[in-house]
Amino acid sequence: MHPIEKQLHLDHYHISRLLHCLQRNISTYQTEGAWSEHLALILEALDYIKVYPEHWHHPVEDKIFAHIVKSYPKYAEIVKALHAEHKELERLTKQLNQLFEAIANDSVVPMDQLSQLTREFLTRQLVHIEQENELVYPLMSQCLSDADWSALEQQVDDIQDPLFGEQLREEYQLLHRYVMDTDIELQRAASL
Ligand SMILES: [Fe+2]
Ligand SMILES: [Fe+2]
Repeated sequence: MHPIEKQLHLDHYHISRLLHCLQRNISTYQTEGAWSEHLALILEALDYIKVYPEHWHHPVEDKIFAHIVKSYPKYAEIVKALHAEHKELERLTKQLNQLFEAIANDSVVPMDQLSQLTREFLTRQLVHIEQENELVYPLMSQCLSDADWSALEQQVDDIQDPLFGEQLREEYQLLHRYVMDTDIELQRAASL
């Protein structure tokens, strides 16, 4: 498996892990105080989504999707929908970020709007990853030749995942600890 393909699979595992941790905790937030208490964490998570999945993962997938359509035109509709969803998900991240920034600036934000949009964001991100895993990732290695992968290497930025990669970026320390701790809690709960 080419290292870029390996990284994309690893990204899905990591991003899903982060989304599941957030989903588990956010379902318990009933009051404005609960949201405010976790504000720094949520803003870090949204920042990470913009800085890595939206900056590296989505553009690389978009390039790979073009190869899949070329090899298998019958997948054009599915690929087109997933490609369009990248833009939709990015719009949702921006919208959610604006709401949480407003809270950080002491503006009044309706709690039900915040809760609904956050749930929508997490669910859509997770469904998107599941669909890619099921429908298009299995086709990747069949559709790209060694020459295609080499060409792709030249086209994509050489960026490391700043949260789950070898070097944890300073500004994501809180988020990283949170994912590790929540993972332990989830494993404990699963073994009961
Ligand atoms: Fe995607
Ligand atoms: Fe993806």
